[in-house]
Amino acid sequence: MLEAKTERIRKDIEAMAQFTASPGGGMTRFSFSEEDRKTREYITSQMEAAGLTVRRDAAGNLFGRREGKRRGAPAVMLGSHFDSVKNGGAFDGPAGVVMGLEVARVLHENGIGTNLPLEFAALVEEEGGRFGGGLYGSRAMAGLLSRESLDIFRDRDGISMARAMKESGLDPDRVGEAVRPKGSLRAFIELHIEQGPILESEGLDLGFVKTIVGITQREVEIIGRADHAGTTPMDMRCNALLAASEAALFIDRASREAGEGTVGTIGRMEVYPGGSNIVPGKVFFTIDVRSADIERLERVVNTFGSFLKDMEKKHGVTVSVKDKLTVPPVDLCLEILGLFEEEAGKLGYSAKVMQSGAGHDAMIMASITDAGLLFVPSRGGRSHCPEEWTDYEQIKKGVDVIIGTVLALAEASS
Ligand code: GLV
Ligand code: MN
Ligand code: MN
Repeated sequence: MLEAKTERIRKDIEAMAQFTASPGGGMTRFSFSEEDRKTREYITSQMEAAGLTVRRDAAGNLFGRREGKRRGAPAVMLGSHFDSVKNGGAFDGPAGVVMGLEVARVLHENGIGTNLPLEFAALVEEEGGRFGGGLYGSRAMAGLLSRESLDIFRDRDGISMARAMKESGLDPDRVGEAVRPKGSLRAFIELHIEQGPILESEGLDLGFVKTIVGITQREVEIIGRADHAGTTPMDMRCNALLAASEAALFIDRASREAGEGTVGTIGRMEVYPGGSNIVPGKVFFTIDVRSADIERLERVVNTFGSFLKDMEKKHGVTVSVKDKLTVPPVDLCLEILGLFEEEAGKLGYSAKVMQSGAGHDAMIMASITDAGLLFVPSRGGRSHCPEEWTDYEQIKKGVDVIIGTVLALAEASS
């Protein structure tokens, strides 16, 4: 039986976890940073040791390729992303990249060939931790990333994605070359930590994702007027923070009212110029709304739009909104889900079919190929925080299931 090795999975996760910009404060690995570069080096060395041919595409995604016996056949791609959120955990993304590395090693050391080629993927900027929005690596592959967006999307220091790409040796004008036309891939398989409490609380080994919720992310800027906090009477102010505070309460209330698991969050807010004795003249904040039901999602987003217009009148502010991400709910491939079930059954691993409230590259890849997403349990359901944890043995079980799935999809030939 072909089986993943827990010890190698542990080694990879620990090695990648060293490359953080916030040692002692969890993982902060932003795209095109020094930590990103060191992690790429590590992944490349592991891919090469597993006999793969490594290349970076025009968007910055890293691929290790293993040829198949059938010339020109579409490839089975497997992997996940390797960037992180700010002060996140060591498993969100890397667990899936390491899955790919381990599948490659198992096939390599056992001399297993396939008819279809395999591509092991380590994708860039899924979180949007640096530039907002996220899912960039997969959006570039699916042809959903415009050249203009690379100039528009900027990090906290005002550096555009295009400039960061140039500094990392990529040419943003060539981002279109990262596109994978429909038909060029047989499937995309991702392993990810669940990032929620369900598998652990039900004592299950694995989750097979059927649907991923729709996600809308926006950046909002409210311009008021900076004034002296001591001398400006209360009724003569244009306080941008008052409008933003009402927005935070509105998003929470509208999401609860939408129901059926709809969630809404303001996760980042910056007040300018930011002085204790200055009336806030400008506030920047993000919104993130998610639902498995597109109508509920759109209802929250649309009513938020009218709400902001009311705020302009009420507080005398000006509001501008930038769309960072709009992805409808996505159904994943039932054939792949069935293969997951079959393999888990053979191995005696317990599992359930579930929904994902987190966004994943698989939801974008589903627009160009058959996509499958497998979850492993998250301790305490914690994620996007330094405490994020999954036992290595649990990741191993997920990898075992994917080995069988990939061999079925790529047609094992010896
Ligand atoms: C990624 O983790 C997301 O769901 O935003
Ligand atoms: Mn994440
Ligand atoms: Mn992730």
